[in-house]
This record gives sequence, C-alpha cells and structure tokens, in this order.
Amino acid sequence: MNLNPIPVIAIDGPSASGKGTIAQIVAEKLGYHYLDSGALYRIVGLAAFEQSIDWQVEQDVAKLVPQLSIKFEHGEIYLNDVNVSEKIRTEQMGQGASKVAAHPLVRLALVDLQHSFRKAPGLVADGRDMATVIFPDAKTKIFLTASAEVRAERRYKQLINKGLEADYQAILKDLQDRDARDSQRSVAPLQQATDASLLETSHLNIEQAVNQALMHIASTHQD
Ligand code: CDP
Repeated sequence: MNLNPIPVIAIDGPSASGKGTIAQIVAEKLGYHYLDSGALYRIVGLAAFEQSIDWQVEQDVAKLVPQLSIKFEHGEIYLNDVNVSEKIRTEQMGQGASKVAAHPLVRLALVDLQHSFRKAPGLVADGRDMATVIFPDAKTKIFLTASAEVRAERRYKQLINKGLEADYQAILKDLQDRDARDSQRSVAPLQQATDASLLETSHLNIEQAVNQALMHIASTHQD
C-alpha cells in the first residue's frame, strides 16, 4: 500500500554507470524534482576531510552531519553557503564518500534529508539504496548498470574532456574497489531490489538509455 501519493522513480546502480546523467534528464523531461544522494555522502566526506575527521571513525563523522547546512540550488551544491559542486567530484572525495557511506549512523543521519526531497509533482532519486531503503514504496525502480570496463572508459573520457589527467588502469581499479566496498558493506549494500528492472547500458548511448528508462516509467505509471 502506498501511503505517500507523491511518485518516486528510484534509479540505483554502481559508480559511473551513468545514472546521474540519466536520472537528471528523466527528471527534467517529467518536470520532477531530483535527488543526487551520492552528493550527500560526498559532502559529508568533504566536510570531514576539511575538519580533519577520520573517514573511518563512525561516531565522529555521524556527529558532523546535523551541523551541515546542505543546499541544492539551480544545479549547484552548497555546503554551509559555499559552492562545493566542483570540490566534491574529485576521485578522492568519491573514495571518501564510499568510506563514510559504509557507517550505519551516517546513513541514518541522512534519511530525513533524503525524504524531504519528495515533493509534488514527483521525485527522481539516484543512488545505491533508493529502491531498497530510502523509498521502498517507489512507483518505478530501475537498476542501471554497465560493465566495469565500459564505466571506466566513460569516466576516463569525462576527465580527458575536462582537460584533466587520467589513467585508465587506475580508474578501473578505483571503480572495482568502490564496487566491492559498496556491495559488501553490511548496511544498505548496493544491490538490485527484487522488484527493480535491470537497465544494462554497456551498449546504449545516453539517449537510448533515457528512452528505455522513460518507456519503463510509462509502463509502471499506468495503474
Ligand atoms: O559518481 P559515482 O556514481 O561514482 O558516485 P556517487 O553516486 O556520487 O556516490 C559516491 C559514493 O557514495 C558511492 O561510492 C557510495 O559509496 C555512496 N553512496 C551510497 O552509499 N548510497 C547512496 N544512496 C549514494 C551514494
């Protein structure tokens, strides 16, 4: 039974699967709000780093969360009124996010904030546990993935296009480490919800992946 009538489209998947890009386009096309839950873990990682708090010390990182003012405005992300959109996207903060995200107390401290994004006319939520933990009543659940090699290649091209240095082997190793940590943690591990549909994007471009997602959403919104 769905007690909250505001529809949620949950898009989960591993690192660099393209879910962020696809989720944002889907949200724009439907006129829905968008939650980038990974950005929240990246912000917590960044805030801990800036305050010299060890990512591995659960209590200290969790205590930090209620003190953070996090805002998403016009596609930009602010931490305590400072624009951190660029700073949180480094590979270092990706690793930090994955480490702080393994702590149950940190995940718990971020639940209400994530629920607050559920506003009319609807929400597209992207992450690892959107369908399994945060919005188990989501109307549509998509598990978006691609092979590790394809994901590493996409990340490599993204960095090169931004004029940054990139090492394909290092990126692949980083992705595989993060996949392992995200899938093996005891709390909210990365996994396909039993009622989610699999969208394999290794051989799809962005437009094709968006179209497949939209077709699936249309079929689950028919009732
Ligand atoms: O961009 P990428 O897919 O690599 O990462 P992200 O979506 O920004 O998430 C960064 C890290 O946050 C992931 O490696 C996960 O460990 C963690 N995360 C999580 O645990 N739960 C979520 N709902 C979203 C992200």
